[in-house]
Amino acid sequence: MAPDLTLEQVMEKVQDLPTLPDVFFKVNEVVNDPNSSAQDLERVIESDVAISAKLLRLVNSASYGLSRRVDTLMQAIPILGFYTVQNLVMSVSIFEMNAMSADDLKAYWKHSFATGTVASAIAVADGLQGGRSQSLAGLLHDIGMAYMLQDFLSEHQAIREEMLKDNITYIEAEKRILSTTHAEIGGAIAEKWNFPPNLTASIRYHHEPELAEVYRDFAAVTASANAICQLTETGYVHNEGFETSAGACEPYHPLNESAYNHAMREMEKQGQFFEAFIDQMETARKEDLENT
Ligand SMILES: [Fe+2]
Ligand SMILES: [Fe+2]
Repeated sequence: MAPDLTLEQVMEKVQDLPTLPDVFFKVNEVVNDPNSSAQDLERVIESDVAISAKLLRLVNSASYGLSRRVDTLMQAIPILGFYTVQNLVMSVSIFEMNAMSADDLKAYWKHSFATGTVASAIAVADGLQGGRSQSLAGLLHDIGMAYMLQDFLSEHQAIREEMLKDNITYIEAEKRILSTTHAEIGGAIAEKWNFPPNLTASIRYHHEPELAEVYRDFAAVTASANAICQLTETGYVHNEGFETSAGACEPYHPLNESAYNHAMREMEKQGQFFEAFIDQMETARKEDLENT
């Protein structure tokens, strides 16, 4: 069993994280403004020349299925969708600064992209406001897990062993081994990175939205999207014992069958692209490391 780790110790380490690139916050402003357009999104992404060039390169390498090459982000937005482009740039900006780039993060990103896609599909199907930020909240909900995979790997392994030994969920094992959870760690990271309060609440409470004092419904949609993705993802660390149906969302943000089916279709549509994109992100990261 790994030594106990207190929230204070984790918080101290979290303070060492580098700050996020400006483009992250600029994109977030566009995401939160319901009047912003695809042009606005393109303009802010292109204000970071390195990230926008990288994004185009990754999209083109990952898009075996696209009928033509994408030369500008404006061409990518109608093909991939506003939510997807927004989430790609957020993931690249986190990945880019090497703060969250441990070697075995593939499953993490796959789960994150899927949760972002399902969260926005739920928001759209239920006619909720803020589908764009809901999508981003889905993408970032397990950011504390990414941090653990990188900086607390031995604790993470001890949690996994405990989980398998007693056939309990990841969160239960975390509570036994640590004095904190990946959701709490994620909340601390969100605060360190000055995320807006809806994102911070949804990260901190994505396993227990009922405890959120603010943005409870917003966190509940993230929790539901996470529950759906737990059912359908393979290779990810959680074992939360959800039912394999729309009923998985029941404790959080209940879905009717057609909203659930809509979410599943969206995930299927994007899945292959995300997988290819993650592969390309990892390849680019390894090349960058070799060149430095
Ligand atoms: Fe989680
Ligand atoms: Fe998750």
